[in-house]
Amino acid sequence: MKKVLALLLAFSLVFSLAACSSKTETSSGSDSELPKIGVTIYKFDDNFMSFVRRAIETKAQGKAELILNDSQNNQATQNEQVDMMIAKGVKALAINLVDPQAAPTIISKAKQADLPVIFFNKEPSEEAMASYDKVWYVGTTSSESGVIQGKLIADAWKEHPEWDKNGDGKIQYVLLKGEPGHPDAEARTKYSVETVVAEGIEVEQLELQTGMWDTVKGKELMDAWLSKHGDAIEFVIANNDAMALGALQSLKANGYFEGDKFMPVVGVDAIPDALEQIKDGLMVGTVLNDAKNQGGATFDLAFNVANGKDPLAGTEWKLDDKKAVRVPYIAITQDNIEVAEEAYK
Ligand code: GAL
Ligand code: CA
Repeated sequence: MKKVLALLLAFSLVFSLAACSSKTETSSGSDSELPKIGVTIYKFDDNFMSFVRRAIETKAQGKAELILNDSQNNQATQNEQVDMMIAKGVKALAINLVDPQAAPTIISKAKQADLPVIFFNKEPSEEAMASYDKVWYVGTTSSESGVIQGKLIADAWKEHPEWDKNGDGKIQYVLLKGEPGHPDAEARTKYSVETVVAEGIEVEQLELQTGMWDTVKGKELMDAWLSKHGDAIEFVIANNDAMALGALQSLKANGYFEGDKFMPVVGVDAIPDALEQIKDGLMVGTVLNDAKNQGGATFDLAFNVANGKDPLAGTEWKLDDKKAVRVPYIAITQDNIEVAEEAYK
């Protein structure tokens, strides 16, 4: 009896361990001949990042063994994962920071092990980038997404005088912000509204809060704002599509998009769920954040440096004076949905 119990216990331990490790770390490509590359994603439970991750995995097939970690939105966890990957003998690190301020911690670990690092999606400070000759960045020019979104808002507003429900000539808007301190969130928040104003449209901010890039939080905020301001809200500006989709859920539940009750909503990323809403005429538009090319460039650079080559060897990517590859953003409306679909295939 005791033996059976011990056996059962051992079994369940093995199983729970397996389940546990698969949550935080997965390897793809088991060929030990292939160079190992250590990758962290700040959290797997982020809609846009799941597409970037997929692009990295697709490109790695047959070329490199990825050690892929879910940092579960915890910088301490990520730091441990980096130590673990270094111990496992990775030849390069590709790091999507949890906290953009934590780059120096990762860089000092990489320096000690003489390893190259490619940061992606969360841009480290200039000082951090300049502190090590074997560090590069793959991402975007954050401000560009804000400018494009602002232009999209201004163009749509000018086409729809009926959206000015109180007829005061101003846009009464609410803004769903991404993670505070994240370069994309800060730049989108600033430049979207500044661009609308530069287009000659007056604005009035009714609400601005962080929804942490998250659909559920976006919905909760929109619920609260609708019950506070109701029809006084004339525009919903979201730093990303996940939050825009949350706002849409709330709006639908509150009787919007029925009859002539409409609310313009814009986001950033162009994830497939948002594209569906644009096709259906519910979302006004979004800004393509090119997951395929950002994931692709991240892998290309990491693979090159893992093999001791120049980061750009054999690629079409270009580095700017901040050692960054920046993939352009593109405005997406009903007219050019195909462009976005391509980037999420
Ligand atoms: C942004 C993206 C957001 C979120 C964030 C994570 O570029 O637009 O949806 O994924 O990165 O860092
Ligand atoms: Ca108005």
